[in-house]
Amino acid sequence: YKPFEPLVKRIKEDGKCLNGGILKVDSFINHQIDPTLLQAMSIEFVRRFATKEINKIITIEASGIAPAIMVGFLLNVPVVFVKKKKPSTMAGMYSTEVFSFTKNRAYTVCCSKEFLNEGDKVLFIDDFLANGNAAKGIIELTKQAKAELVGMGFIVEKSFQQGGSYLRNEGYQVESLAIIDSLDNCQIKFKEN
Ligand code: G4P
Ligand code: NA
Ligand code: NA
Repeated sequence: YKPFEPLVKRIKEDGKCLNGGILKVDSFINHQIDPTLLQAMSIEFVRRFATKEINKIITIEASGIAPAIMVGFLLNVPVVFVKKKKPSTMAGMYSTEVFSFTKNRAYTVCCSKEFLNEGDKVLFIDDFLANGNAAKGIIELTKQAKAELVGMGFIVEKSFQQGGSYLRNEGYQVESLAIIDSLDNCQIKFKEN
């Protein structure tokens, strides 16, 4: 693992630690967005997945969409965002349940069969990797579609939650631009390498 230093620097400057192991990055990722940093991070994702053949980016609404679009733009491939609202009819949709720890409830994620196809080589991009439940939902949807999930890129991974180790154990290439080992006592501790 190599930290992406411009992001680490920005988190040190502008990231805030909330109770319950939550990192607040509202001023440059999750509410206000810094497009220049987003562009630099997307270039870094493209570099880290350069050996992979990719024909589609997938993410989950809402906050995964911005980084996913920029990666899709750089690779000149379409970007599909999985929806969180259960459609009135499930006909023509792949769908599965995702449990959110931060919200303590399950929600349905779904994707039209039109936009995820057998043989697709898909890269998943998202803002946070915590427990990895969103990623598990993406794994399930791509399995339903018989698409290949070629890798997963996250802006921030929290290594004190289990998502990263689970996904790497499953054999996925997981690339996180910053890994946070601890947010205890409202101190942001970064993984060094
Ligand atoms: P998991 O997918 O890794 O299991 O994560 P979890 O259920 O814990 O997280 C649910 C939501 O909370 C996700 O966004 C995720 O991006 C976000 N999240 C998790 N940890 C942090 C954190 O430390 N800081 C911030 N800012 N967000 C975090 P979401 O609710 O699905 O919604 P959206 O924001 O993408 O719309
Ligand atoms: Na998210
Ligand atoms: Na989020």
